[in-house]
Amino acid sequence: MTKPLPETIKRVDELRSALDEHNYRYYVLDDPGIPDAEYDRLFRELQNLEAEHPGLESADSPTRRVGSSAETSFEEVVHRLPMLSLDNAFNEDELRDFDRRVRERLGTDEDVEYVCEPKLDGLAVSLHYEQGSLTRAATRGDGYAGEDITANIRTIPSVPLRLRGSDVPDLVEVRGEVYMPLAGFEALNARLENQGEKAFVNPRNAAAGSLRQKKSTVTARRPLEMCAYSVAVTDESLLPDTQWEGLQQVQRWGFRINPEMRKAVGAGECLKAYEELMQKRGGLPYEIDGIVFKVNRLDYQQALGFVSRAPRWAIAQKFPAQEELTVVEDVEFQVGRTGAVTPVARLKPVFVGGVTVSNATLHNMDEIRRLDVHIGDTVFIRRAGDVIPKVVKVVLEKRPANAQSVELPKQCPVCDSDVIQIEGEAIARCSGGLFCPAQRKEAIRHYASRKALDIEGLGDKWIDILVDQGMVKTVADIYLLTVKDLTRLERMGEKSATNLVEAIDRSRQPVLWRFLYALGIREVGEATAKSLASHFGTLEAVAEADMDALIAVPDVGPIVAGHIGSFFEQTHNRETLEALRAAGVEWQEEEVTGGEKPLHSQTWVLTGTLSEMTRDEAREKLEALGAKVAGSVSKKTSCVVAGEAAGSKLTKAEQLGVTVMDEAALLEMLKEYGLL
Ligand code: IVH
Repeated sequence: MTKPLPETIKRVDELRSALDEHNYRYYVLDDPGIPDAEYDRLFRELQNLEAEHPGLESADSPTRRVGSSAETSFEEVVHRLPMLSLDNAFNEDELRDFDRRVRERLGTDEDVEYVCEPKLDGLAVSLHYEQGSLTRAATRGDGYAGEDITANIRTIPSVPLRLRGSDVPDLVEVRGEVYMPLAGFEALNARLENQGEKAFVNPRNAAAGSLRQKKSTVTARRPLEMCAYSVAVTDESLLPDTQWEGLQQVQRWGFRINPEMRKAVGAGECLKAYEELMQKRGGLPYEIDGIVFKVNRLDYQQALGFVSRAPRWAIAQKFPAQEELTVVEDVEFQVGRTGAVTPVARLKPVFVGGVTVSNATLHNMDEIRRLDVHIGDTVFIRRAGDVIPKVVKVVLEKRPANAQSVELPKQCPVCDSDVIQIEGEAIARCSGGLFCPAQRKEAIRHYASRKALDIEGLGDKWIDILVDQGMVKTVADIYLLTVKDLTRLERMGEKSATNLVEAIDRSRQPVLWRFLYALGIREVGEATAKSLASHFGTLEAVAEADMDALIAVPDVGPIVAGHIGSFFEQTHNRETLEALRAAGVEWQEEEVTGGEKPLHSQTWVLTGTLSEMTRDEAREKLEALGAKVAGSVSKKTSCVVAGEAAGSKLTKAEQLGVTVMDEAALLEMLKEYGLL
């Protein structure tokens, strides 16, 4: 350990101030002053200096925000002043009564000014600052005593570790709400689910769970924020005269205060503020469960005082709840346009988040298992903002004896084809791709698309109309359409009808790979369709191939082989292929290359700089096509790809008369083979 030089002490101080400042700009003002990378460099420099000179450590150093792995004991702390709760007004009349009582007690006929603050849905905390430094943070507990959570609070970036400015009283107590913004909540839950851990039901539970962590390093990784809503100091003469000014002061000391806060005069304006905030509720990046009205003048607050555990100078008006309990009456399965079979809970209708909800998606069988939902269960439904309602939790204690577990149906509820669930995939699918009415439009759209059979003029709009009118049920029906049929449709003239029928006609003799691709077999893209076509030569051979034969095709693994197998196993799909043949579609046979890759036995050389990919990437792709990639050019070289500033290899290729290709031509070729 070396004794710090004065320069070091100065530098540590500079770094702490700079990091505090950047932290404040980033997390409190939402206005970053430097790029993240620069922040990280300053942070590491400070970390290194502190490690070299343990004597310079400080509890309010910005490096402390990463937390510690020491276990916190959450000791009891008695609040200097009790942390009260708020009375609620459940309707307009109750709010008007509150305002009337306030005026009566104050003995005034004049309208009273209130501060209207969003009621953040998190946890109340009390923070003590002595000589400007954060010394103690506590939960509300029972209002009289809470738990010491200082180590965890220090990790929240919007909590100042030192108060800003020079007008800081010796002892300051700031109270406010710790909460988890919605985006952070979603990300945290996704992370927990990924790790196989239990997700949190709502942002408030997530915030509470995060603050209760024994190791502050865990809290440090949780996206928590804090917003201040009240302040007390030992010497009251140091505070302004109103709640509003007090919060401005707190903001100058470095806290975040809520930007939706406003003043209102009289009950009428308060009710307007309530309506306006409720309108905004769904668009806010955090959850609020109501609005709090506080008498603005602090002398009025003093005069009004408290009853039991709530102040007479404040009241909360709640918004409609975003979580309610209801019963799962049934679970049905819906088939999406791509064949995904999705469980949907049919619920006893419940009013939640401002609407009546009677259905909620359960996403897939994994989700049903994760939540352990049974038919008959009582569940928490959550609908926040404009988000679709979600089942977030089962109340196990309320499960009836006859609760039924949910099974994935074996047959598609729409077309009766087999439902297939590939191991390792969450989503189950109907295998009646070409036939299933739920998938009709999507199957036709894909079949007619440019990369498939390229039927010009058969776009989404006409597909919708033709299917809705019952004129087309499967892709085979397309070939039966006549100009006469089509001109009967609204807005379809003689000319467009003729053009469309001609375009359909032109698609009657597709090359095999395009036809295979057009069938829309899951995971059979252009490249796989090409491999299959050149390996098997005919559609019949693909259809007859067993698993081993399919896996022998380059590009085809067990999953894709499974999709191909189940597609051709379905009677419905085979019938549609028959119908296509009967309607005059003749897919062409292809010369069998014995599964050889397109650049088999060729030697390629890469030279110069490529702009769209690295040479390594280009080499991998050429190798995937079967080429050998060599480092030097000879008479035997099949092709040289010359990038920017190609030198001697290009000259040599030209001398030897070897084919040369530029990057654009290479990209074109890779695209053709489906590698781009
Ligand atoms: S003032 C004496 N203001 O609501 C006044 N509370 O039921 C005490 N809350 O425990 C609280 N936002 O967790 C106040 N702007 C706000 C608030 C707020 C949320 C919570 C707080 C408190 C509870 C009161």
